Amino acid sequence: MSDSYRFPAGFLWGAATSAYQIEGSPTADGAGRSIWHRFSHTPGKTWLDQTGDVACDHYRRYVQDVALMKELGLNAYRFSIAWGRVYPAGTGRVNRKGLDFYSRLVDELLRHDILPNATLYHWDLPEALDDRGGWLNPDIVGWFGDYAGTLFDTLGDRVKLWSTLNEPWVVTDGGYLHGGLAPGHANLFEAPIATHNLLRSHGSAVERFRASEAAKHGKIGIVVNLEPKQAASDSPEDVAATKRSDAYMNRQYLDPVFLGRYPAEMREIFGEAWPDWPAADMRLIRQPIDFLGINYYTRKVERFARDVLPLRTKPVPQPDAWTTQTAWEVNPAALTALLLRVKESYGDVPLYICENGAAFDDPPKAIGGKVEDPQRVEYFRRHLRAAHEAIRGGVDLRGYFAWSLLDNYEWSGGYSKRFGIVHVDYETQRRTIKSSGRYYASVIASNGEILSD
Ligand code: FCB
Repeated sequence: MSDSYRFPAGFLWGAATSAYQIEGSPTADGAGRSIWHRFSHTPGKTWLDQTGDVACDHYRRYVQDVALMKELGLNAYRFSIAWGRVYPAGTGRVNRKGLDFYSRLVDELLRHDILPNATLYHWDLPEALDDRGGWLNPDIVGWFGDYAGTLFDTLGDRVKLWSTLNEPWVVTDGGYLHGGLAPGHANLFEAPIATHNLLRSHGSAVERFRASEAAKHGKIGIVVNLEPKQAASDSPEDVAATKRSDAYMNRQYLDPVFLGRYPAEMREIFGEAWPDWPAADMRLIRQPIDFLGINYYTRKVERFARDVLPLRTKPVPQPDAWTTQTAWEVNPAALTALLLRVKESYGDVPLYICENGAAFDDPPKAIGGKVEDPQRVEYFRRHLRAAHEAIRGGVDLRGYFAWSLLDNYEWSGGYSKRFGIVHVDYETQRRTIKSSGRYYASVIASNGEILSD
């Protein structure tokens, strides 16, 4: 049937980015430095010591970038706000010029009928707050609440979708447990505290939102990265290891937000490093939210591994799998299953896929005004079909945001991994829509129908 992949009316077709990864000019107009600025300027932390100092220069080229979104036919755009542009010291004095940048961006989007989807925290904590303990300091709940409140008051009349946090699991796992991401700590005892303060901050921001005028104009949720875990065998060790892995990455965030409790496995994983949390905290975390944002990239097959602490499990690479440049297995069927599982376990909350995409070995330069990336075309075709299958299965999926609009600064991977549907020539800042971008545009123009081709 030619119309079997048609998406529901009003479906959001978007692309996503984040502030530090694309904006550049990180200290312009009075902005305060972030932990990513500090981390990337510390030798040995990122690929070739690359930083986000210039990135895609989006801070100065946002008008051109919004025009590009229009050319692609996007009707929504997910971006994040750099906390340090708004509060240079993280708290205290507001920096008008920083706020104005996001206000102008939002106006430009609306002028082009593109719905603004704003994330308050995509990993770029103000350095000044990190100096006061960052996510380990319980006071961060108030700092984050104030920052969120300022944004609700300033952009709340125009932003339709708000997310409190992007991928709290990565903030904790990369930032506090293993140290590969800013602020670069590796401490078993810190990780649970960081998670808990992230989630309390989320709850507090949702509370502020409900009390603000912004709630009349928009909706609020949280964005988590979910990874289905499958046991490598049905041995009890592998099955238990897989449950730990699922609890750690997925349920550690979903259960508190929707059910008001952490999974029992957290104690099994962290032992004495996992505290008993006050019931009042759990109530704060379990605020009703309007939607859940899901970032989906891959799934994992897990096997018991005694020496890999604290989880005692490790992923087993699948020999015949198609993998991306970041060695992530491409598995669209797991996306369908994941969306169905979220509905089954947590109820009929509206869902958005807030990130999905892949890095492949693209040609480094545009040739004759073109960048051919056939693998990414196929990647999007398969994942969009998988998303549609979940809708057919009854999932209330309301939008899809490709990661990413632009090739950009991939954190500790620097500029070595290109995820964009638009190629960026980092020497000239010239943008070229890749064949995957053209393909996505034609999916959007047909509201999904061409996915059956
Ligand atoms: C996600 C991040 C995003 C980007 C993609 C590839 O975990 O949210 O910023 O790095 O991965």
